[in-house]
Parts: sequence; structure tokens; C-alpha cells
Amino acid sequence: MTTLPPTLSDAARAVLDTAVPTGKVALTHAFAAAWRDGRITAVGTTPLPDRPARPDRPELKLPRDMPKRGRGGSMANRIALLHALAHIELNAIDLAWDLVGRFPAEGLPKPFLDDWVQVADDEARHFAMLDARLNALGSGYGDLPAHDGLWQAAQVTAHDVAARLAVVPMVLEARGLDVTPDTIARLKGFGDGESAALLQTICDDEVTHVAAGRRWFGYVCAARGVDPVATWQDLVRRHFRGVLKRPFNTAGRSAAGFGPEFYEPVAEG
Ligand SMILES: [Fe+2]
Ligand SMILES: [Fe+2]
Repeated sequence: MTTLPPTLSDAARAVLDTAVPTGKVALTHAFAAAWRDGRITAVGTTPLPDRPARPDRPELKLPRDMPKRGRGGSMANRIALLHALAHIELNAIDLAWDLVGRFPAEGLPKPFLDDWVQVADDEARHFAMLDARLNALGSGYGDLPAHDGLWQAAQVTAHDVAARLAVVPMVLEARGLDVTPDTIARLKGFGDGESAALLQTICDDEVTHVAAGRRWFGYVCAARGVDPVATWQDLVRRHFRGVLKRPFNTAGRSAAGFGPEFYEPVAEG
């Protein structure tokens, strides 16, 4: 039995401070259920750490020091792919809780918190699915090095909920929608239907995460009386270091309510 924290921001902090992935997943599911059921109702203002706790393994490397992943269908390549995705999902758990607890001064309404608690719950399920698949293939999360740098987007947007929504769900998670269909097709081509099905489930959920980002970004812009398209483009220019690469999954993005008027004018490629 997990002892419940007194407030949602304490729950966010507890997850962020938990290094062991299985613990992070279990706490997320327990706290998300408690929030849904009304066993946690207070929001609180507990400060969050600058960075989440991380386990001893995997070894974290700078992006430029990461081994280049092959695109062929060997077991080693598929394990490396699933491991990289598991690492992204583990970070996504923390990103969702950070969004829940980072901006109490904004006075965001309960449906905002409901949405991002649900996203955290989804990300915990995604991580667990990928880790189970790695186990089935004779590996597991922690066996390979992983990319250190995923938290950078959180740190550069920790001052402003609009910047956070602009960069994390509306750039990074939307990018997942762009690239995952091709990965699914490749896995099917390799005869790995199980991994392909798992990624399809994840991709379908991610549409709802991008949709939540788009919706709440619109809410914050309306509250501030600013134009969402121009504001998004400005925030992305200032806080996202990469480029917005074509081709976009326009259908997936539009299913999330995220229209090309936002990203096409500032895209490259
Ligand atoms: Fe996810
Ligand atoms: Fe997500």
C-alpha cells in the first residue's frame, strides 16, 4: 500500500524524486488513481527539484557520444530502438508530473491537472510496456547507454507554462507523431508485429497528449490575450534549439487539433 501524499504537488515531487523506474511507474499509477478517485484533492505548492532522480543504469551520455543506431532489423538494432523509446517514456513520466506541479502560480483549473495526471499515467504505462518488451527480447531498461539531454527542454521552459506547452507537447511529442508511423512500418517489415503493435498503442495515446498541449496552450494564450500562432512561433524560436523538420504527420497533428498554420511557416526541409 502506497502512503498517499497530502497534495498533488507533493505527489509530483515524490515521483520526480524516485530514481528506480519500477518505483516511478508504481507511484504514478497509484497517485493518478488517487487523484481521479478524489483521495487526493488539494493541489499544494510544494517546490519541485530542478532535475528528476535517475537510476544508476542506464549510463547517461551526451547525444554526440551516443552510439549510432542501425536501421536494420537485427535483434540488437530492435533492442536499441526500444531502449531509446523506453528512455524517452521514462522522461515523459517526469515531464508530465513537472507540468502538474511546476506552475501553481498560474491558477490553472482542475481540468488542466486532470489532463496532465492522465498523461503521466499513460507515460508510465508506455514505459512499462516497452520495458516488458525489452525483457521478452532478453534485455531491459538500463542495459544500454541512454541520451542525457531530454530534461533540457524542461529546464529552459521552467519559468513559463506557455513556453513549456509550446516546446514539450507541441514540438517534442508532436515530433513523435511524425516519426512513429515509419518506425511501425519498419518493425512490421522486420516481422516484429508485437513491437509494432505496442508502438501503435503509444502513438494513438500520444495524439491525445499533443491535443492536451494544443488545448491548454490555447487556454493560456486566451487568458493572456495573445495570439496563439504568433506566440507559439516566438516561444519555439526562443526556447527550442532544433529545427522543425518536414515531413510532418499532418493527419496526426490535425487529429490533435494542431493545425499547419502553427508549424508550416517556421519549418525547414
Ligand atoms: Fe508516451
Ligand atoms: Fe506523451
